[in-house]
Amino acid sequence: MNVNLLLGLQWGDEGKGKIVDYLTKEYDIIARFQGGPNAGHTLEFNGIKHVLHTIPSGIFHPKAINVVGNGVVIDPVIFKKELEGLDKYDVNYKDALLISRKAHLILPTHRLLDAASETAKGKAKIGSTLKGIGPTYMDKTGRNGIRVGDLEFEDWKDKYRQLADKHEAMINFYNVDVQYDLNELEEEFFEAVEKIKGLQFIDSEEYLFKAMKDGKSILAEGAQGSLLDIDFGTYPFVTSSNTTAAGACTGLGIAPNKIQQVYGIFKAYTTRVGSGPFPTELFDKHGKRMAKVGHEFGATTGRPRRCGWLDLVALKYAVQVNGVTDLMMMKADVLSGFNELKVCTAYHYNGEEIDHLPYNLSAEDLKPVYKTLKGWQEDITKINSFEKLPQTLKDYITFIEDFVEVKVKIVSVGPDRKETIMR
Ligand code: GDP
Ligand code: IMO
Ligand code: MG
Repeated sequence: MNVNLLLGLQWGDEGKGKIVDYLTKEYDIIARFQGGPNAGHTLEFNGIKHVLHTIPSGIFHPKAINVVGNGVVIDPVIFKKELEGLDKYDVNYKDALLISRKAHLILPTHRLLDAASETAKGKAKIGSTLKGIGPTYMDKTGRNGIRVGDLEFEDWKDKYRQLADKHEAMINFYNVDVQYDLNELEEEFFEAVEKIKGLQFIDSEEYLFKAMKDGKSILAEGAQGSLLDIDFGTYPFVTSSNTTAAGACTGLGIAPNKIQQVYGIFKAYTTRVGSGPFPTELFDKHGKRMAKVGHEFGATTGRPRRCGWLDLVALKYAVQVNGVTDLMMMKADVLSGFNELKVCTAYHYNGEEIDHLPYNLSAEDLKPVYKTLKGWQEDITKINSFEKLPQTLKDYITFIEDFVEVKVKIVSVGPDRKETIMR
């Protein structure tokens, strides 16, 4: 038995999809534990790029079972589109994809509420992906939600109507201009629900418990990143779930003492999409270069991602909150060609130097303190062993390891499955 976690340590889009796909050969089960279609996980192999939103990133491996856990929120409309995307590739999802009955459903009106809430916030908007994530988790904790298991009962449409009517009243309450045709949205929704009813619904905590007893290995796949965590992220500019390690326990029903390795994944620099503080953000040619070379556009919304230097203070915080045992550094290739690289090792705040994340990360007078390291010039995308990497890149990695006190186990040098160096 082996239960490991893989989660993002920054503001999402670290490359979780790529690495879960790469690691799936070592596991029997891949399980998503939180978030929903706000996620966009990219996988590349055999010259084809796939983007998954709700479906776990192990789905392309013929032997792996993929579980969508109770902590995930599912939009049947997006889920149906994802399944249709898989049809082209002969993926046997009828057997390989299992959905927790306790996962909550995103209704069309949750999406509308998301839009109304963001519009009402004006300049203070979160920059949500507008997939209805916040309103769905609000209904979950408010004990009003509709769950996948409800679809197995005759009266689920009555529950649906009641909740959707309430949402419509709430949308009016916001008093903002949100255009919609609910009949059209509902038609699409009910059709999609029929499609997902053809999949296997399970009591996933029971399933995973039994799998562990039978000696199966499980990799839990996180969505978003630690700095978007509802408790530990840059609140209120966060998502609505626990993206950190504890979220895997509540989002799958796996006890903390069953978890062994915690893989923390980060980019060699930093990106963020949506609003909120980002102390090391760059507005100069260096930031533009990262965005261009790294193709930094959101996999879900297509929005440009903000780019900046690696923030080691924030990374260390994420390592601590998650109990990371191994690091994985992504997109090292994007930094090839920089003469110098900066990493943030402290902040100037209120006239003093601090080495931790302050409560108010968006404070006007918060400034990063940088250490400058030498860059590397070589194209590293074809390198396949750690030893062959340029010395200055190895020095960059050593500096990170010494700072956060965890070793880097994987270095990723390109988007393809093959462009991955295991140490
Ligand atoms: P996720 O949400 O954490 O799965 O990450 P995304 O898929 O949203 O964003 C990561 C992006 O970087 C995707 O376009 C990947 O194909 C790409 N990517 C992943 N690893 C690397 C890498 O090492 N180098 C480069 N150049 N691109 C990478
Ligand atoms: P993956 O799994 C990057 C961001 C949004 C917004 C905030 C709240 O691909 O790493 P929400 O839709 O949850 O209400 O948005 O969180 N966000 C992400 N940013 N990657 C993601 O997922 C994200 N999911 C949400 O941009 O700032
Ligand atoms: Mg993403």
